Amino acid sequence: MDIGIAGTGRMGAAIAQRMLNLGHRVRVWNRTREKAAALAQEGAIVCETPSRLARDSEVIITMLTDAAAIERTYDGPDGLLAAGVHGKTSIEMSTVRPETQRALEARVRARGGAMIECPVGGTVAPARDGKLLGIVGGAAEDVERMRPLLDGLCRRWEHLGPIGAGASGKLAINLPLMVFWQSFGEALALVQHLGIDSERLVDLFADTSGGPNVLKSRGKAMAEELAGAYAGPVTFDIDSMRKDLRAMVDEGVSLGYSMPMTSQALACFDALSRDGLGDKDSVVVPVRWARRISDSGH
Ligand SMILES: NC(=O)c1ccc[n+]([C@@H]2O[C@H](COP(=O)([O-])OP(=O)(O)OC[C@H]3O[C@@H](n4cnc5c(N)ncnc54)[C@H](OP(=O)(O)O)[C@@H]3O)[C@@H](O)[C@H]2O)c1
Repeated sequence: MDIGIAGTGRMGAAIAQRMLNLGHRVRVWNRTREKAAALAQEGAIVCETPSRLARDSEVIITMLTDAAAIERTYDGPDGLLAAGVHGKTSIEMSTVRPETQRALEARVRARGGAMIECPVGGTVAPARDGKLLGIVGGAAEDVERMRPLLDGLCRRWEHLGPIGAGASGKLAINLPLMVFWQSFGEALALVQHLGIDSERLVDLFADTSGGPNVLKSRGKAMAEELAGAYAGPVTFDIDSMRKDLRAMVDEGVSLGYSMPMTSQALACFDALSRDGLGDKDSVVVPVRWARRISDSGH
């Protein structure tokens, strides 16, 4: 199949690799061209503009930072929609609010195309291995047509309803994880004076009812950061976590809810960003917060 992937950041590049490994013809476009160019060595065709990518692709996958990035990539004179997308299907995978996905679907349909959304749980390695958790929204016939690709991307995917349902589901699913990172930092503050070996400490937390899966998948990185030595790649950075938390709070507020815990977690992450840590990996959050708390004495 001819697959176009617009947005080859960390996740988009991993998805492109997965599509290549499955034997698809893959075209890529990225705002910063060098990131897409790296995929040429693996067999992808690099396109100069999103519209060029759309023209030659049957299915267009987008994996972008936020609503502004979606607008830049789909709209405008060289955007994905510029030449019309008749008979093509977009799979929009970014983590954004439901209203962004619904508005985009209307623009795609107006240009003759179809769209489903599939924001995901799981990070770079699961994306490369086709082991993501997909939270799908869209019309049943469009989702069904995309079943083989969704099966190739995800270890499990759930169709939750029409467009927007995927975004709502993704924001909800991510929320406890975001709050966990902050609460874990506060928990670590309570035991740091005990001088427990970091691997042993993370392993102990992971073996409890309060220990989420992330302590198993990223436990090694977490223990390394605790020991002051995490030097691995950034898989999900603090500024992206802030973006997700902001979307969760805004979504709650738009529904008439107050989101006290989520708002507080966002304020805590904002403080880390002000400390210049916005581009650091998520495992930095609990370690820095444990230190901040003990350094300030409260
Ligand atoms: N990383 C994870 O573990 C993870 C897991 C699940 C979901 N997600 C979600 O996946 C999406 C991508 O995340 P990522 O980690 O791959 O981020 P990333 O590495 O920062 O990549 C972001 C992509 O968006 C593009 N972009 C940003 N602003 C743009 C704009 N104004 N116009 C055009 N393109 C723009 C970037 O282009 P440039 O290269 O030019 O900046 C890049 O291709 C986000 O919605 C994130 O929340 C991430």
